[in-house]
Amino acid sequence: MSVLQELIPLKVLVIGASRGIGLGFVEQLLQYQSITKIYATYRCEESATELFSLREHHKDRLIGFPMDITDESSIVSAIKQISQQTKQIHLVIYCVGILHDGDFQPEKSLRQIVPENLIRYFQVNSIGVVLLAKHLMPLLRHKDSSMFAAISAKVGSIGDNRLGGWYGYRASKAALNMFLKTISLEYNRRCPKTIVVALHPGTTDTNLSQPFQANVPPEKLFPVSKTVNQLLEVMKNLELKDSGEFFSWDGNLLPW
Ligand SMILES: NC(=O)c1ccc[n+]([C@@H]2O[C@H](COP(=O)([O-])OP(=O)(O)OC[C@H]3O[C@@H](n4cnc5c(N)ncnc54)[C@H](OP(=O)(O)O)[C@@H]3O)[C@@H](O)[C@H]2O)c1
Repeated sequence: MSVLQELIPLKVLVIGASRGIGLGFVEQLLQYQSITKIYATYRCEESATELFSLREHHKDRLIGFPMDITDESSIVSAIKQISQQTKQIHLVIYCVGILHDGDFQPEKSLRQIVPENLIRYFQVNSIGVVLLAKHLMPLLRHKDSSMFAAISAKVGSIGDNRLGGWYGYRASKAALNMFLKTISLEYNRRCPKTIVVALHPGTTDTNLSQPFQANVPPEKLFPVSKTVNQLLEVMKNLELKDSGEFFSWDGNLLPW
């Protein structure tokens, strides 16, 4: 049985909940009566205003913590605060990611490769998840079912790469996938009831995809609520044997 169908009080952690898909998960998960606490992290307060107003309406169930995933001490500090409130997390949804930011844009060709930009892609899109998995392990080592789901991207699939371009984003998502696979193997030994998966959300109407939406057919550009519902359906159907796999929004397995 998937963690979301368990009839026990569930505690959830959403990382990168300030906006986009992460905020969408918080909104949807608040509808689940079985979820008694949602710990939601944000990086900067300016972009987290919607999360804060949601928190105003759900003070008893929604708790926010600052966390910059590129700073290990910030991860440690947030998890320490969460650990003072609970000894168990049942569902972790990692929604952090970066594709562009002002002059920082995905590369169309080798001429545009800038080492500092590649490092930024890896810091945000790849390394954060393994730091999180390192520090979260004590909260996932319990007798109930649990899940550690990270939003990856199909463009991180090496087998599916037919178009090229987006060197840093693609490589950082491929690295994220390898981290998740490796985390799944260690978690299998250390917290054996935790399913670890990479999820592809499909092109979703957020700030991240906004500059690249022009050529996306309308039926393939999902509103955030649709993406979240689809991913929750996928997550509900996952079993322990699925740990370490890469799933698309429609439930299909993706090639690494
Ligand atoms: N949208 C799509 O079409 C699409 C497609 C495939 C995959 N994805 C993946 O889906 C995930 C969510 O993306 P989205 O579309 O929701 O993008 P988004 O709206 O741009 O949200 C990105 C989130 O990542 C957070 N973040 C960025 N840098 C961070 C850091 N250093 N520490 C902590 N949080 C940080 C942002 O926080 P701030 O508000 O503080 O910046 C924000 O909450 C990403 O992993 C993305 O790669 C999206």
